[in-house]
Amino acid sequence: MASEEKDEAGVQDPLFILECGEVYRNPTEIKMSQIVLPCHSNHCGELSVGQLLKWMDSTACLSAERHAGGSCVTASVDDIHFERTIGVGKVINITAKVNRAFTSSMEVGILVTCEDLYTGKLWQVCHAFASFVARRTTAGKVQLKQVIPHTQMEQMEYSLAAERRRMRLIHAEIITDILSSSTAQLGECQEYQDAVPSERTRVESVELVLPPHANHQVSTFGGQIMAWMENVATIAASRLCNSSPTLRSIDMFHFRGPSHIGDRLVLKAIVNNSFKHSMEVGVCAEAYQGGEPLRHINSAFMTFEALDSDGKPRTLPRIRPEPVEGKRRYQEAIARKKIRLDRKYIMSCKQTEAPLSVPWDPSNQMYLSYNNVSALKLMDARNSWVLTSEKNKVRLYILEEDQVLFFKVEMHVSVPAEQTFRLLSDLRRRREWDQYYEDCEVINQADDDDTIYRVTTPSLKKGGRGQDFILLASRRKPCDPRDPYVIALRSVTMPTHPPTEDYNRGEVLCAGFTICEESSTVTKITYYNQASPGVLPYISTDIVGLSSGYSSSFSACSDFLEANKANLAALSPSAV
Ligand code: COA
Ligand code: ADP
Repeated sequence: MASEEKDEAGVQDPLFILECGEVYRNPTEIKMSQIVLPCHSNHCGELSVGQLLKWMDSTACLSAERHAGGSCVTASVDDIHFERTIGVGKVINITAKVNRAFTSSMEVGILVTCEDLYTGKLWQVCHAFASFVARRTTAGKVQLKQVIPHTQMEQMEYSLAAERRRMRLIHAEIITDILSSSTAQLGECQEYQDAVPSERTRVESVELVLPPHANHQVSTFGGQIMAWMENVATIAASRLCNSSPTLRSIDMFHFRGPSHIGDRLVLKAIVNNSFKHSMEVGVCAEAYQGGEPLRHINSAFMTFEALDSDGKPRTLPRIRPEPVEGKRRYQEAIARKKIRLDRKYIMSCKQTEAPLSVPWDPSNQMYLSYNNVSALKLMDARNSWVLTSEKNKVRLYILEEDQVLFFKVEMHVSVPAEQTFRLLSDLRRRREWDQYYEDCEVINQADDDDTIYRVTTPSLKKGGRGQDFILLASRRKPCDPRDPYVIALRSVTMPTHPPTEDYNRGEVLCAGFTICEESSTVTKITYYNQASPGVLPYISTDIVGLSSGYSSSFSACSDFLEANKANLAALSPSAV
């Protein structure tokens, strides 16, 4: 583990000096530092994750309230992964800032680092994103002021926040769909000898919400509820492993409704399934006052491991689920494990790493689409591009970073941005202006935003084999007028379209367009591509100045857009 330690945790923006000479500090940034004391830890002397969640939630809430200028509540928290446990005596540093405000909700980024005061070492514990909503006033829903990003890092987080929000809002619906289709394929639960009956792990516990658990508006702190949920989940997990379990991750969750002082919170947990080295514990939090019916506040799924004395995961006993509901949760835990693994793989694929293509599967569509768009947005946020040539008002830039070459082509067209987006987002029409697009067909229309195409390009050598690409195109309309339209492209693999002998299978790591409205009639188009072996031959002669294929292609693109700008029949592929 020591190799993971960093002198400095997390990526820091370089200092940004304001015109007045002062160092810029994000106005919503809130910091909290705490020494981990025995009262914050479990019986093994490790910081309780529940306590950490409370600190994270209150720091983030103060940041949200600083931006909103009023009271805010926790709406949801994205998946959190905990890499390491933290011992008594260490210092926890938490930094939270608002990445972006939407209408009444905000995304707050939370960075947690741990510091060893004796060695001076500092390392990252986790990086989380929480959404807070400004409390309604008597005038109704609050309209928050915009966040204005100042640094490159803030610009990047601002841009990615829109993509994360999209994923958050569709998350519950998509997970429900995936669970029902995946569990149908799983069939009967497997019977294991010596399996532990799941009811042996069942926990039910009640908490009375008192003033210290709530804010000045008498609403229960989200972090407090998370801490109580973590507490019952840990008891359930301990009953299976008969030792002290370690919490590894919490899946994205949503606070469905508020809770107040005087509520009785009923927390229920059970081990839904156990795998070789990990188990999934589900927790449900419900509230009531007096004789009222129970209100569903939150449900969360937590993954635990049990570590041996060397810190290696121990083999866990298997679970025998209860009939009906228990069996359903057992099957759903298998499907959620697959979703988590797919997500981990997709999110951890660095743009520079092989394998380039990720298998397409309905269960990983949400993450692949997110990964596709966010990779393009990250390229868009880079600011050290070098202009290498300009021809016919088409500019070619390159950027070399850690042995990786990126290029971008920029031009302006006198076509409205929305029409430009419609015309460019149907890849089948690209052959009308790009000589390298020999053929293009839709092979899967996943939904309105995601389409998979097979594209063929001719051979650069006479008599050689052409290339084919299986490309996921993810389209996004702007979240607000300051955002660009985005068309992101990346290679995926599809079992229905394996490589053939007639073509070399080419791969695109990250490419696509951002389309910005400069005025109602003028649009800036930027095309990005991360050079991979599949695409480099098509651009390298342009980069070194031996040809100007890019400028003729993009001039042809401009002509194509002009010629079709009045054509309202330019429909998205999904509408075909
Ligand atoms: N994640 C992030 N934001 C979410 C969300 C989720 N899962 N679900 C809704 N929102 C956002 C909406 O996008 C909207 O944002 P916008 O105004 O910027 O567009 C905002 O919440 C309000 O949505 P609205 O449709 O007006 O209300 P709603 O009926 O969906 O309620 C909450 C959303 C969060 C206000 C409501 O579920 C709630 O009160 N939850 C409890 C919050 C709480 O008390 N937490 C503390 C612990 S109990
Ligand atoms: P689901 O049943 O679809 O998983 P719920 O929101 O009802 O969703 O519950 C979330 C999780 O909380 C369940 O998966 C289960 O692990 C746990 N849980 C729910 N009800 C109980 C209960 N009565 N006893 C113990 N644990 C429960």
